[in-house]
Amino acid sequence: MGRSLLGIEDLDRAEIERILDRAVAFQPHGGANFAKVNTCTGMMVVNAFFENSTRTRSSFEIAAHRLGADTLSITAAGSSVAKGESLVDTLNTLAAMRPSVIVMRHQASGAPHFLARHLSTPIVNAGDGTHEHPTQALLDARTILDRLGRLEGLRVAIIGDIQHSRVARSNVFLLSKFGASVVLCGPPTLLPREMAQLAPGVELEYDMRRAVRDANVIMMLRVQLERIHEPPMQAGEYFRFYGLRQEHVELAHPDVIVMHPGPMNRGREISSEVADSQRSMILSQVENGVPVRMAVLERTLLW
Ligand code: CP
Repeated sequence: MGRSLLGIEDLDRAEIERILDRAVAFQPHGGANFAKVNTCTGMMVVNAFFENSTRTRSSFEIAAHRLGADTLSITAAGSSVAKGESLVDTLNTLAAMRPSVIVMRHQASGAPHFLARHLSTPIVNAGDGTHEHPTQALLDARTILDRLGRLEGLRVAIIGDIQHSRVARSNVFLLSKFGASVVLCGPPTLLPREMAQLAPGVELEYDMRRAVRDANVIMMLRVQLERIHEPPMQAGEYFRFYGLRQEHVELAHPDVIVMHPGPMNRGREISSEVADSQRSMILSQVENGVPVRMAVLERTLLW
């Protein structure tokens, strides 16, 4: 039986390093495609996405194919969940078809953990509510390492809707394990004080100019309107106080890189000038999604 991957909080440094190192072997060089290794031929990867996704779902599917595995993708809208079937019954139904792993995204925090306790099929968490998005943090770490060569000692400013961000939480766990210092920044309504407890040394900052000063990495986050009843402020006002513009990039470290997990809202949390600049790693993050998820699937299926 393979090993589930439910969150970064549960992983130690050695396990994270092993995944990040293995991903390097799958990265494309020059104009080549991702490596095709067929280490998982005959295995079946089920992608069960109960929340929308472009990047995560596609890259898990490509990753599985590059490993030689077969795939089956289901979404809530196209499944019997839309007819009222419970999550447990749906997952038990999928498990009865004997997949090798279920990659799962769900709007409820803790849903993959609950299912991992009830199913013998390993589960990979592709994002659970506001809790964790472990493969996003892994691909973000791979991207930072590719560009800056280290995590230790970096100042990483994570800016935006921190409260609802599983990406922020997984990144805080990972970056803290590797000795980076993390500053979380956003409007007070989206950055509750208890976020400072996520890991030792996490700093909270409500002023964006102070947050980005000398940062090696600026990671922008979308305001998750689908999880908020009352938007904190109008888009224009939000952009004025928490939107990343060139003037902020100039306050950061001279070699700063700009990241965003996507989907991004241009003109709300980031300007097009910055998103499309040389500093932007946004498409490198997407590209690294495939090799990192290949390594994650190998860990689950083979290691
Ligand atoms: N970063 C991320 O999870 O994007 P998707 O929602 O498109 O998968």
